[in-house]
Amino acid sequence: MAADLVIIGAGGFGRETLDVVEAINAAAPEPVWNVVGVVDDAPSATNLQRLEARQTSYFGTVADLIAWAHRPSYVVGIGSPSVRRTLVERLDAAGLDAATLIHPAATLGSAVEVGSGTVICAGARVTTNITLGRHVHLNPNVTVGHDTTLSDFVSVNPAASISGDCTVGPGVLVGVGAVVLNQLTVGAGAVVGGAACVVRDVPGGAVVKGVPAR
Ligand SMILES: CC(C)(COP(=O)(O)OP(=O)(O)OC[C@H]1O[C@@H](n2cnc3c(N)ncnc32)[C@H](O)[C@@H]1OP(=O)(O)O)[C@@H](O)C(=O)NCCC(=O)NCCS
Repeated sequence: MAADLVIIGAGGFGRETLDVVEAINAAAPEPVWNVVGVVDDAPSATNLQRLEARQTSYFGTVADLIAWAHRPSYVVGIGSPSVRRTLVERLDAAGLDAATLIHPAATLGSAVEVGSGTVICAGARVTTNITLGRHVHLNPNVTVGHDTTLSDFVSVNPAASISGDCTVGPGVLVGVGAVVLNQLTVGAGAVVGGAACVVRDVPGGAVVKGVPAR
């Protein structure tokens, strides 16, 4: 029987996460997930219409979810690493389990570990000997090269490439189309701008952009 799931976030990535769930269900012999609804503390009218147009219920706020007697699985479909972390702390404390979602059109090589709550979108390529922490987001067409570790709450935006032998610290955001060259470390909470090329280690908390990224 399909397991109950709520998606946190009615915004862009929340609805892309819904796409991942729908693709997982379509590829399986029986549906894996039953989407109970989408949770959002302040959904816009436009996003509520977008949910309605795809026959998906708006559940209510995070507080409504925590107050509910039932305990569905959850996934946080919000791109900001810091917002995601705050929500996960509340939901874990409330006793909900995180779902791990891997689109059937993503590819994972050998010796890949994927932490709970992680979402891997269509077209992502994760090669060999790679560790993805908890609540990592790999957006469409991301590549992650051999022997690389992405810590908890990392977001890699569409078409970004993390090369081999890299270490990406917790809460890092790698912008759309950015490149991190091999054997580099990106420190905790750093932000790599869209289309940047990282050629040397990035200190924790830094914001770098451009080619080469500074
Ligand atoms: C790098 C980034 C974090 C900087 O954000 P910010 O500090 O708010 O930057 P601002 O928009 O105030 O711009 C500051 C300056 O940096 C420049 N800049 C912003 N982003 C840049 C980027 N990715 N590459 C090069 N220059 C950039 C701006 O043109 C501006 O230059 P100026 O001072 O000469 O006018 C952000 O622009 C970015 O690239 N985020 C990633 C976004 C992403 O991945 N989106 C896809 C979502 S799926």
